[in-house]
Amino acid sequence: MIMTPRLRKFALAAHITFSVGWIGAVAGYIALDIAAATSRDAQTLRTAYLAMELIAWYVIVPLALTSLLTGLVISVGTRWGLFRHYWVLISLLLTIVATLVLLVEVQTISYFADIAADPTTSGDDLRALGSTLVHSVGGTVVLLVILVLNVYKPRGMTRYGWRKQQEQRKVSRP
Ligand code: HEM
Repeated sequence: MIMTPRLRKFALAAHITFSVGWIGAVAGYIALDIAAATSRDAQTLRTAYLAMELIAWYVIVPLALTSLLTGLVISVGTRWGLFRHYWVLISLLLTIVATLVLLVEVQTISYFADIAADPTTSGDDLRALGSTLVHSVGGTVVLLVILVLNVYKPRGMTRYGWRKQQEQRKVSRP
């Protein structure tokens, strides 16, 4: 099921928008995460945690899921395939891992935001909450690795990819 060139362009534009948007959204999130990790001011901490929850749930999670989905569609719908090239396979695995870690992490962020939203929480309690910097910075590194892999598309084919290529050659030159 190979896509028409028009459809492929459309799918690629969507895939790039969601995937690179994901990286950008995490960059915005990191600014708040740094404020949560370093600020001593209760007002700033409260605002940072509440905004982190909104960005994580309503921007980062949807972008992660749509990046994964469009990645799957564009792989299956082109000659790249899902299991033929190592770079596609590694992108798929890393994106799945990054998304799973994100889905666990948003629970922690919601927990922080609930405490921050409670008007009875003291400044000391807010300062003791901590941050998610290890995950947001680590996640960005993983996303950049996937981005570079997807742009460079290093050669390397899987066994399955070789077999499929041979089969296609036989069909086109019987
Ligand atoms: C954070 C995750 C991802 C990022 C940042 C990302 C980024 C990109 C970018 C920038 C391109 C355009 C490269 C170019 O054509 O020069 C691309 C293409 C592509 N990506 Fe992704 N991607 C991600 C996830 C995935 C996943 C999970 C898959 C597979 C399941 C995938 C499969 C592909 C394929 C097959 C292409 C080539 C499409 C074509 O030639 O028409 N990507 N990606």
